[in-house]
Parts: sequence; structure tokens; C-alpha cells
Amino acid sequence: MTELPGTRSLWLDTAPAPDRTGTPLPAEIDVAVLGGGIAGLTTAYRLARAGRSVLVLEANRLAAGVSGHTTAKISTQHGLKYAALAKNKGAEAAAMYAYTQTAALDWIAAASAELGIDCGFTRADSFVYTTRAETVETLEREAEAAAEAGLPASYVTDVDLDVPALGAVKFTAQAHFHPRRWLLGLADEIERAGGTIVEGVRAEGADEIGGTRVLTSSGEVRAGEVVVATHFPVLDRGLFFARLDPVRDLVVAGPVEGNRPPSGMFLDADTHHSVRSYLNDGVPYAVAGGEHYRVGDSVDVESRYELLASWASRHAGVHRVTHRWSAHDLSTVDSVPYVGRYHPATRHLWVATGFGQWGMTGGTAAGLLLADLVLGRENPSADLYDPNRFDLRSAITAVENNATVAKFMVGDHFSALRQPAKVDELAPGEAKVTRDGSELIAAYRDPGGELHAVGAHCTHLGCLVAFNNAEKTWDCPCHGSRFGLDGSVIQGPAVRALPKKTVPRA
Ligand code: FES
Repeated sequence: MTELPGTRSLWLDTAPAPDRTGTPLPAEIDVAVLGGGIAGLTTAYRLARAGRSVLVLEANRLAAGVSGHTTAKISTQHGLKYAALAKNKGAEAAAMYAYTQTAALDWIAAASAELGIDCGFTRADSFVYTTRAETVETLEREAEAAAEAGLPASYVTDVDLDVPALGAVKFTAQAHFHPRRWLLGLADEIERAGGTIVEGVRAEGADEIGGTRVLTSSGEVRAGEVVVATHFPVLDRGLFFARLDPVRDLVVAGPVEGNRPPSGMFLDADTHHSVRSYLNDGVPYAVAGGEHYRVGDSVDVESRYELLASWASRHAGVHRVTHRWSAHDLSTVDSVPYVGRYHPATRHLWVATGFGQWGMTGGTAAGLLLADLVLGRENPSADLYDPNRFDLRSAITAVENNATVAKFMVGDHFSALRQPAKVDELAPGEAKVTRDGSELIAAYRDPGGELHAVGAHCTHLGCLVAFNNAEKTWDCPCHGSRFGLDGSVIQGPAVRALPKKTVPRA
């Protein structure tokens, strides 16, 4: 068994940031951007440079959420995307998607050079490979569809990774970087352009009554326009929670020993393991991802980390994991992000979400599009990404997702109520949902013997939370909210903490 460190992102560990938690909130602003990740900061930067007064409001710390917990591949190769897009939405839509993602990649390349942001931007080829004969034809079709969409794609049999690959879809001249260094650099540029950044203040609501108003944990801000880039949109009005599927992808990183660092970025089409290199203070590292699971599923997350570490050791020479973390990905029902007007009835409220596992180009493309929309500029990709688009296939998928949610809401509740209350029997390191009369409590006994107990019903829409044994969090299986042991919100759509509870004695 590989010995694994505590969970901590390599990107957070190697890019300290100035503290912006004390910055006062302005009373009025042209544009309030909620969320300090890649989509929010890109939008804010573009708008600040266009002369708008901009506020970025981040509930925690900048680039410390999803954007600080990625593998940071800046690639237009989004798994096997283009054949499906062309089939389901048409060749034009596939070409438009390819165009916008390429524009995002090119923009990061140009802006990081122009602004002199030292984020390790490195060009590399990207591969989706297979070791299974039955997948080869799918990859050949994908290479063809991607090339038809205008991308630098081809089918190859030469894959420079220690795996028995039969073939791969290769995209040339993609890139990877240090995402947090890039975003902290962008934040500095926003301030330089006159923008305000406030950390540690949570947006709790927004409305358009008599102008647009943002309600926060520190008071109210009046804004001409509001951009919601909080990963999972914090306002339920657009019913995004019914149209997004939350998945967690595990990541491990460490120095490469006995192998060459991966020369490109590689993704196994069948198992979804991936790897890229990173030069950490002059030491070649590999960053490997995979072993994904749906948030809140009852899986042993620790064991999945073990499996991933073992894969990284066998195929990328990572024999000592120094960092591990997990990414929180949201997929839309038709696999195209939602970027645009929050709701058909809102005029000044905008949203960006649903980038799947491809948030570096997806979030950047969203920022470029949102800035255009807010500025009233035409953008040919607006229809493709319109959050209020509708098609029958997507509607059916949404109904299926929500049937799963209903199961968690009703089924889990009643089966938990049937459990006897046995909090006293919890061993150190053990956690469970138990009951106190008709009330359900999420309880964890830490290794020191102290009990931590909070309400077990998610404050979003009331599903029962489940314990994540690797990250020591309570995760909601319905829409992916995550809470700390003290009940604090780590990940929305929930905006309120789980209430602390007194633990009953059996
Ligand atoms: Fe929606 Fe928990 S995230 S009910």
C-alpha cells in the first residue's frame, strides 16, 4: 500500500496569495462578479480593461476552489467530444465549440506572455489513447470529427507513455500551466485596472428589483450587472441544480523517478486516467488524475486514491506521492457549458457553469463570452452556450438525473430513520448519519476521540449528506454541495452551513 499525504493541492501549496479578506465592499459598482475562479477572473479582467468598475466577490480565497484543484490542462481536446457534438448538435456547432476553445487557449498564451505572468505556460501535445481493440474505431471517428471541426487532430499509433496503447487521437500544440499562478497574476491585473477584489464574503442572493442588488454575508451591493461564476450557480432561480451533474475526480502528484516525465498530456479513453508533467522548482513531477465518482456516492474515497497512486507509479514513475487533491466537475446534460443570461426573464444577471473536466479552456472561453455579452457586443457563440437552450434529449437526461435526486431525498431519509442511534459506538475516525428522535445527525469522531456533529440534511434542498473519508467532509449526493466537519459550506449550491448539533447519548 502506498503511503499517501493529507489532501492538499500542489497548486495551492506552491503559490501563496496576498490576503484580500479585509477589503471593504463598495456600495455600488458597474459589474459584480461572484466567484474568484477562472471564469470569474477572466470575465472581470476583460471588463476592467474595457473601463467598467468591477467587483470580484469570493466566498473563500481566490483560485482556491475548483480552479485550484484541477490538473490544469489547457486543451481543446475534451475527451471524445467532437464526434458526439457533431452527431447531436451538427457539424457547425462542433466547429463553433472548437473555435471558442481554441480562442481561449490562444488568449491565455498571448495574455500570459503580454502581462508577464510566470505561470509555467508550456505547449504540449495532447492524446486520448486506448489499450482496447474495441475502442480503436471510436478514436478514429473522433480524430476525423475533430479535424473536420478545424482542430489540429489526427489518429496516431505512436503514444509516448508507458502503456500498451493501440492508438490515440492526437491534438498538437495544446498546453498546461500552473493555474493558481495564472489566476493570481490576473487578479493583480484586475486591481491594476481599477477593479476591487474581496475575499471571505459570500454572495447569498441577487435580484433585479429596482436595479440589480447582490445580498452578501457582509451587506448589500448595488450593481449594474451581476455575473454568477461560482462554479455551481448560487441562485436557484435558473434551476441549474436540475441540469448539472456533479462528479469528483481524484488527482495525485509527485516527482518522477526512473521514468522520463510525460512528454505530453495523456488520457485513457476507457479508464479515464490522465497524466501531465509539471516542473516543480526544477524537479520533474507528474500530475495524474482519475478514479472519478459521483459526489455523495457511498464509495471508499481513500481506496480510490490508492488505486490512482498505483496507476501513477506504474505508468508515470510517481513512486512517492507528495500531493493529492480532488477536482469537482459539473457536467451539463448536453455536455456544452451554460454561459449567458441567467434566466430568460433576467436582463442584468449572467451565469457561467458546467465545464465538465475542461474548466481551463471552458472557463476562459466563458469569461471571454460573458465580457462580450455584458458589454453588449455580438458574439457568434452566444446561441451555442445559451443557458436557456432547450432540446428534447437534454430534457430527458434532466428528468433521469432528477429521478436519482428524488431517490436520495426520500429513500435515504427513511432508511436512515430506521437506523438505531449509536453515536457512542463510533470508533475514532468513523462517521455516520444517525438519528436523535426524528432528527438526523451527521456525526464524526476524530482520531483524538472528539465528536463533531451537524445536521444531516443539506441546506440546499434537504438531501442527506454522506461522509467522504479522504477529505473528511460531508458531501451531498443530490447536487454536490460539500460541508466541513463544522458544517461550513465548502462547495455550493448550498450557501448556508449545516447547523451544529449536540450529540445524543445512546
Ligand atoms: Fe442540492 Fe444538497 S446540493 S440538496
